[in-house]
Amino acid sequence: MPKSDNINRIIDHKLFSEDDIHNMCVRLGKQLTQDYAGKKPLVVGALKGAIFFLTDLTRQMDVDEEMDFLDVSSYGNSMKSSGTVKLISDMATDVKGRDVLIVEDVVDTGLTLKFMKDLIGGRGAKSVKCCALLNKEVNRTVDVDVDYYGSKVGNEFVVGYGLDFMNYFRNIPYVGVLKPEIIKEFNNK
Ligand code: XMP
Ligand code: MG
Repeated sequence: MPKSDNINRIIDHKLFSEDDIHNMCVRLGKQLTQDYAGKKPLVVGALKGAIFFLTDLTRQMDVDEEMDFLDVSSYGNSMKSSGTVKLISDMATDVKGRDVLIVEDVVDTGLTLKFMKDLIGGRGAKSVKCCALLNKEVNRTVDVDVDYYGSKVGNEFVVGYGLDFMNYFRNIPYVGVLKPEIIKEFNNK
């Protein structure tokens, strides 16, 4: 995707620039390096939204870590959580006895994170924590800890840096708010 005209057509305003995101990764990476010192965490990325954040965050973590991925969906192709979380694709690694760090793009209602924490905890992980880029705390409906996060966000639909609308716009290099007319355009298709 060209990085100018097309993005201007889609994004209403920028929320977090590439520099903002980089600074979040550096800060979180330092904290996680301290907290996981001497451990060998298993970093589990929540597909597909977390892949950009995971690659930048883990390169700021100076610990021996393994990586795996889970594909869990509560949205389908809509903008509101469906309320039911589905396991689309499981990870291969045995989590028994492991310190697991789930990496998420955004925690909204908290349903997806709770599902993943329960799944991994139920399989006997030693610890299960989450590091999310964004924390949409105002929308939380279930009680679940977002142990680490880059920033809080309000109740607006954000795209870019892995975050999607109908599976599009993940490759926008920063996080922005989608223009309402783009949402209408897609809904009329
Ligand atoms: P829940 O409600 O289960 O949702 O906490 C978490 C998942 O919902 C997606 N989500 C968003 N995706 N822009 C997006 O692109 C948003 O503003 C947004 N809010 C929630 C996201 O995939 C997350 O994993
Ligand atoms: Mg998503």
